[in-house]
Formats: sequence, structure tokens, C-alpha cells
Amino acid sequence: MTINWQSLGFHYTEPDYIIRAAYHGKWQNGGLVGTWDEPYATDDKTIRLHVSATCLQYGQEAFEGLKAFRGIDGKIRIFRWQENAKRMQHSARALKMAPPPTELFGKAILLALRKNLAFVPPYETGATLYFRPLLIGTTPRLGVGPGRDFELIIIPTPIGPYYEKGFSCTSFIVNRHVDRAAPLGTGQYKVGGNYAASFRATEAAHLQGFDCLFTDAKTHKYIDECSAANFIGIRCQEAEVNGSEPMVEYLTPRSRAILPSITNDSLMTLARDRGMKVTRRRIRVDELSQLKEAAACGTACVISPIDKVIDADKNTIYTFGNKPGKYCTMLYNDLQDIQYGRTEDKYGWCEVIDNC
Ligand SMILES: Cc1ncc(COP(=O)(O)O)c(C=O)c1O
Repeated sequence: MTINWQSLGFHYTEPDYIIRAAYHGKWQNGGLVGTWDEPYATDDKTIRLHVSATCLQYGQEAFEGLKAFRGIDGKIRIFRWQENAKRMQHSARALKMAPPPTELFGKAILLALRKNLAFVPPYETGATLYFRPLLIGTTPRLGVGPGRDFELIIIPTPIGPYYEKGFSCTSFIVNRHVDRAAPLGTGQYKVGGNYAASFRATEAAHLQGFDCLFTDAKTHKYIDECSAANFIGIRCQEAEVNGSEPMVEYLTPRSRAILPSITNDSLMTLARDRGMKVTRRRIRVDELSQLKEAAACGTACVISPIDKVIDADKNTIYTFGNKPGKYCTMLYNDLQDIQYGRTEDKYGWCEVIDNC
């Protein structure tokens, strides 16, 4: 199959193989015990599922998203997959599912890569191989409650560069009318229900030409998530001594209702390396006025700089310039340099795959 790498968007392209691994469990003394089968590759992209499976009836499912990059040296690098394994385990425990062990998760990702090498985009196309690990409850059950059987599925698909026309800005609109997740709910887990719950807000924002900035469900005063990405802000304080560098602060929300982004975690490390002060705390929407730069961050885009945020409820528009700011650009390049092998990976974030 010939793929036109330049024309790929963030869409599904059918890979040669997906990977599947089943878990067979039983409830014993209130706990779940069971075993995982070995992951295997199949070219059948459909699954046979009982109509009463707990994933269909009660949303007992979790997913992940991570990427493999073809580097400048021709080698393939998978970025921080162990963190995705850990996050899927957290999501699984939250929904009373069997957490896939890290070793099994890694084995399945590597198998997905090796069976679909022709789908790893070449360096300099800006495209990557995206993996969508999916964990579903497969036990037939109509009485409300968790199942005991699960399946881990890895769906690999090549995706195009997030920025078709180069690194550029997006605009957001503040939402106080739909809650994506409850304060003590499932917002910090990557489970399908959070996304379905957010669609009516994100689609309404899209119709107006914006992405959706979610506020905290309790007070609607604080910034939670940027659509399906974390929020970051850059604050600069003028230096006290004339001529010296300003103090630059990387700010990101602390909230129990947002997904702990692996990209955000990586950017915080890189920001500290660059001498920035990194602060995680609750951020009021009106503090946007104090920020020099604002952005969304996540696996898909790395950093998506924000040019403006509309707060229609308060008749306010916050603007950050219509080009990506200096600090967002610097951090974007720092992270992409590691992912594409253009600089030393001093934190050991990439698993380099040989003989590919
Ligand atoms: C709701 C939400 N927040 C944040 C992120 C960013 O997380 P990551 O950087 O791990 O992709 C994602 C994407 O996975 C997401 O779906």
C-alpha cells in the first residue's frame, strides 16, 4: 500500500494488524483474580462482543494515546510508553477493571510496531505512528456492576502532522455550562465516558469556530482542561535589576478532575531545565490577563499555542498575540528534538527500536 504521508490528518488509516490480549478473571473474596493471555496480532479489525458486555452496557472501558517517531538517524523512538501503561493501570483500577501489567502493555505496543513497520512515517514528513491502546470489559452482564473479563487491544495508525501549515495558534471559548467531569469523579482517568460527556460542549464551541476551555465543575472559576489537552500559561515578571533576564513562570492547573498529561509532565521538566519556575496550582480564568503566553498541550499537538480566549459570560477577551510565543516555541522544539532524536535524550524518555 502506498501512503501519501503529506495528506494524512488526525484520522484513522487502516493498519495491517491490530494486537489483542484477553484477561480471564473471577471474583474471589471481593477481589478480582485472573490471568492475561499472550498478546497476538490479527489482521481482523473487528471483534465479536456480547451485546451485554460491560463496556457496552456501563462504559467499562479506558484508553490511551502515544506515538512512535522515525528519527533523524532513521531509528524509531517510542515516547514514554511506560507512563501510558501506568496511566492505563490507574484508569483500569478506577473502573474496577484488571490493569494490564506494564510488561504486557509494552510487549503489545512493540508487537503492534513490528507488525506495522510500513506504517511508520518517514522523518521530515511530520507524521507519526500513533497507538491507541484500548481496554474493554467483555463479560456479559445486565445487573449493574463490573465484569470480570477484559481485553486489551492496540490499534496503530499513522497520523499526519498536527500543524499542516506549520506551528500555529488556536482560539478557545470558556465554558461554564457543561461539566466535563465531577470534582471527585473520573476526570483524572482516561475513560471514554469523560469524552462522551464533553462532546456537547466541544461541538458547540467548534460551531462557533473555537475549542472549548473547561472550568472546574464546583465553582466554574478555575481553568480545568483545554478540550482534550492540558492548559499551560507563561507568566513573565520584569527583573528587579535593569538589564537582567525576566523571571519566567510555567503555570499549569492543579485539579483532581484533569488528566495528568504525559506531555505536560515532560514540558515541566524541560521548562525547569530552561531555568523557568514551574508552578502547579489552581488558576482562575481571570488570571489569563496576567499571562504572556497560553497554550494547550498533549500527545497530538505537543503544544498548541492559544491566540485568544473568549469569556462570553464576562464579556471579556484575553489575547496573547497571533503567533506562537517565544517560550512555547522553545519548549515545543526542545521536546520534538528529543522525540526525533535530534538531541540527547537525557531523561531516557524514548525507547529506541533497533533493526527497523
Ligand atoms: C482530556 C485530556 N487531557 C490531556 C491530554 C494530554 O495528555 P497526554 O499529554 O498524555 O497526551 C489528553 C490526551 O491524551 C486528554 O485526552
